[in-house]
Amino acid sequence: MARLEIRNLVVSVEGKIILNGINLNVDGGETHAIMGPNGTGKSTLAAIVMGHPKYKIESGDILLNGESIINSTVDERSRKGLFLAMQNPVEVPGVTTFDFVKTAVSARLEKDQRLRVGKFIFQFEDAAKALKMGSNLSERYLNQGFSGGEKKRNEILQMALLKPQIAILDEIDSGLDVDMLKLVGENVTKMKSQTLGLILITHYQRLLDYIVPDYVHIMIKGDIVKTGGKELIKKIDNEGYDWLKTELGIDELEEKTTQYSLGNCANSLFGEGHH
Ligand SMILES: Nc1ncnc2c1ncn2[C@@H]1O[C@H](COP(=O)(O)OP(=O)(O)OP(=O)(O)O)[C@@H](O)[C@H]1O
Ligand SMILES: [Mg+2]
Repeated sequence: MARLEIRNLVVSVEGKIILNGINLNVDGGETHAIMGPNGTGKSTLAAIVMGHPKYKIESGDILLNGESIINSTVDERSRKGLFLAMQNPVEVPGVTTFDFVKTAVSARLEKDQRLRVGKFIFQFEDAAKALKMGSNLSERYLNQGFSGGEKKRNEILQMALLKPQIAILDEIDSGLDVDMLKLVGENVTKMKSQTLGLILITHYQRLLDYIVPDYVHIMIKGDIVKTGGKELIKKIDNEGYDWLKTELGIDELEEKTTQYSLGNCANSLFGEGHH
């Protein structure tokens, strides 16, 4: 059964520490939501698990099914069953969506297996239809000229066909209208199984109404500071994160300093004396 283990993970980018010792275990059959303010390192966590070369592991480990993967390439990680739906999917002109997904699926087959293209075409078309992607999707260049919502649904289409063991969906809800959010939610919920461990990164309750999480983690300043159940989602939706910062005594000093310098900045913009 799938198991992702993140142990004491410290990660930097361009010399700046972004993740401060993350611990997280995700088993097959479980859905974990990660929420947290902008810039706290949620996408960085997704990227480092997938093996993005821009980020550097200072210490700690990432294990998939008991094996460390931190020296594996992105390609190897994908073949081992990891999947990341990116917050901002890249456009790849010159490569059709069908060829891209076909190549990715083929690469994950055992050496003695070959993809049955005829059957795969049907699977692709079914998945495209389920996500209301339009009949010419297979010929369109990957993400090129796709609307924001189409890019997000195209990530889910890849997930449906790749059948990963661990999938991380980074803000899959951003840019989706209410109907498409529901559609994506239903498609992902359909994929839930004992062999899939799911991590949903999101800012909003509405996604988690459709894809219900077992655990909710809150990340602040590169650390998971609280883990709970669904009750946390509602609290965040209603009250934001200030209560938690107060509860944990996080950086009140830094925020006061920021307000102070913003205040000074405003003063110099608008002239002293306007309060
Ligand atoms: N290449 C980079 N160079 C410098 N800083 C970076 C780089 N990439 C990321 N960061 C910084 O790392 C921090 C965490 O970014 P990250 O994208 O992981 O946040 P996030 O929690 O996903 O935020 P959001 O909710 O806005 O998507 C931010 O302060 C960001 O500016
Ligand atoms: Mg992000």
